[in-house]
Amino acid sequence: MPNPFSLEGRTAVITGASRGLGYAIAHALGTAGATVAINARNPDQIEAACSDLARDGIQAHALPFEVADGAAGQAAIDRFHDETGRLDIFVHNAGHGMRVPFLEHGFEAWQSTLDVHLSAGFRLAQAAAKHMDAAGKGRIIFTSSIMASTGRATVPAYAAAKGGLNALTRSMATELGPKGMTVNAIAPGYIATELTRDLHESEFNAFVCRQTPVGRWGEPNEIGWAALYLASDAAAYVNGHVLTVDGGMTISLNG
Ligand SMILES: NC(=O)c1ccc[n+]([C@@H]2O[C@H](COP(=O)([O-])OP(=O)(O)OC[C@H]3O[C@@H](n4cnc5c(N)ncnc54)[C@H](O)[C@@H]3O)[C@@H](O)[C@H]2O)c1
Repeated sequence: MPNPFSLEGRTAVITGASRGLGYAIAHALGTAGATVAINARNPDQIEAACSDLARDGIQAHALPFEVADGAAGQAAIDRFHDETGRLDIFVHNAGHGMRVPFLEHGFEAWQSTLDVHLSAGFRLAQAAAKHMDAAGKGRIIFTSSIMASTGRATVPAYAAAKGGLNALTRSMATELGPKGMTVNAIAPGYIATELTRDLHESEFNAFVCRQTPVGRWGEPNEIGWAALYLASDAAAYVNGHVLTVDGGMTISLNG
């Protein structure tokens, strides 16, 4: 029986993959056999990530662009498709975070957060889906957040953008399912990366460990493996789903 988790011969574009969750997603997909395209903005950081992946036997292409620049992103996705002859998996994961109270949250910060997380998700997934439509199959995955469904102070734009991604996931899944594509999202809880380093190194660390039933922060690989599942044939019947990976934090009344 063929391995339903094998991605042998497939290709994937992952945005925001020079480090953190995106790198872990690229590593998981690559370990399963996919050729991966590593996007971020800094070419040196992308090259370093590609070298690390190559050391683990993973074929990695550099795909530098700013995700908020839709035209550049579309051109890069088209180029990768043309070079490899296919595009099977697209993951929109790039993102940044800022914690500013609502009453002080500037409109520019709101706009840039929506641009990078949500509008880029729409434009880049559309560019990828056009190739997948022509092939009659594909997998699209968005990195959302538990902030999409759990209120927390100081992240109004981030929460709204991630909530938008969840809604976009369901809308696209409905329309693209009949065309052979699935569209899903992953909602990570607190995962130790550069993005969350200041929280991890503050008293917030103890709060996360206390509030999370498994008693710890998540590891980037634990998001990578969730993405591998959603990208694989094993998840062919999973469509329009937001997969929470948070150690049980959001279903718990501990504290
Ligand atoms: N770490 C967590 O606890 C956590 C929890 C929930 C959701 N997320 C989401 O996961 C995603 C990845 O987060 P992370 O923790 O790995 O962060 P990170 O800061 O470690 O990595 C972010 C990656 O995205 C790239 N990037 C950022 N802005 C970009 C842009 N405008 N264009 C192109 N590339 C860009 C960075 O270069 C880097 O490669 C984000 O969407 C974040 O919102 C993270």
